[in-house]
Amino acid sequence: MDNFTRHFFPVLTQLPIVLSRGEGSWVYDTSGNKYLDLNSGQFCAILGHSNKDIAKIVADSSLKIQNTGTLALSEDAVKAADYLHDICPEMNARVVILSTGAEANEACLRYLKFLNNKPGVICFDRAYHGLTHGTESYSMAGRHVRPAVPDTYVVPVPKNNSEDEIDKCLEVLETTVQTYKDRIACAFFEPIVSSGGLIIPYERYFVETQRILKSNGIFLAFDEAQTGMGRTGFWFCCQRYGVVPDAITLSKGLGAGYPVSAVLFNGNSFNEDSYVMHMYSSHQNDPFASAIICGVIDTIKKGGLLESNVKKGELLLSKLKELEKKYPDRIRNARGCGLMCGFDISDESISDKEAAIKGSSFVLNALKQNLLLQDCNSGRTIRLLPNYYLTEEEFDYLINGIEKMFKEGE
Ligand SMILES: Cc1ncc(COP(=O)(O)O)c(C=O)c1O
Repeated sequence: MDNFTRHFFPVLTQLPIVLSRGEGSWVYDTSGNKYLDLNSGQFCAILGHSNKDIAKIVADSSLKIQNTGTLALSEDAVKAADYLHDICPEMNARVVILSTGAEANEACLRYLKFLNNKPGVICFDRAYHGLTHGTESYSMAGRHVRPAVPDTYVVPVPKNNSEDEIDKCLEVLETTVQTYKDRIACAFFEPIVSSGGLIIPYERYFVETQRILKSNGIFLAFDEAQTGMGRTGFWFCCQRYGVVPDAITLSKGLGAGYPVSAVLFNGNSFNEDSYVMHMYSSHQNDPFASAIICGVIDTIKKGGLLESNVKKGELLLSKLKELEKKYPDRIRNARGCGLMCGFDISDESISDKEAAIKGSSFVLNALKQNLLLQDCNSGRTIRLLPNYYLTEEEFDYLINGIEKMFKEGE
């Protein structure tokens, strides 16, 4: 398996393993080693690897009908739209089903700009929404995009939950809105900023934000790629905050490991008569994606997974906090919301470059303990978004593995 990346365009640093299969929380490499997957792939396989119910749905769908084109809806698409509508009745949602997170975000922003007849988008300084041209502009303050999309307005996400910090961030938002409101269509936020550092804003921030936006004719949309579909114990994290947005985008967990995404527009936010814009995309409202969406929602409901994610999240967080107490020099700020947890391994006192090296080395050392972990926040934070069936024994396997790493001086 030497040089297995030779025919890949070098856009990513890969781990030195090639995976051959996965089952539940575990993945297996071609040399027969197994690893506990603490991030459900790229936060997608929320129901575990090779989930039999989802596999059956995929098989059945593939023998039923393929792509129905943009002119006709399939019965599964109609059912999926009803299902999505019914898990957020407060939105009276109108749905578009798509394939990837960035695609859903592009569609969402395109419509909100159209509906509000303005070009601008407010985004967080630490946001990540994908790497298409538009979404990259609204990610990480557009630092890496050439050229940036005009009318991008970057505001700070509260970095902690002190009243002062929240007030400071709201002040910047208010000033931005007052200065540019004639050009701003919407604000687009992750309800928990993941790649930017697992930042969990207090609900007051979003409640106040919505008040400011609404009174100035600006839409609010949430990117729930990671936080949606029950991750935090609610179908959508904005339900936890008690905020009903104008749109939600979903991806990752929505497909339980398959490329499925959706935009839920708030049916009360726009007047249907004025809605004349068209949208054509090859896999729009695809029956395959639709069947999976229904299967994921049924499985979460039948398994009581919203409730169990709250309990499991509390358990995981308590174990991380114990670890933090034991190793305060290695781990800080254990935090979480439902089954979305993490901790810091370095802070702002070191450069991004040094932090990135430390983050990669942590992940590689974890691999030696048969743990698949991911760093974020330029290597400063380790985030954990396991599948919803991860067991207490598997939590202990994670904690023991990290402890072993520390004891071995890694
Ligand atoms: C919050 C968020 N939005 C959007 C995306 C982009 O999704 P995709 O990679 O499916 O385009 C990601 C991917 O990591 C994400 O974390």
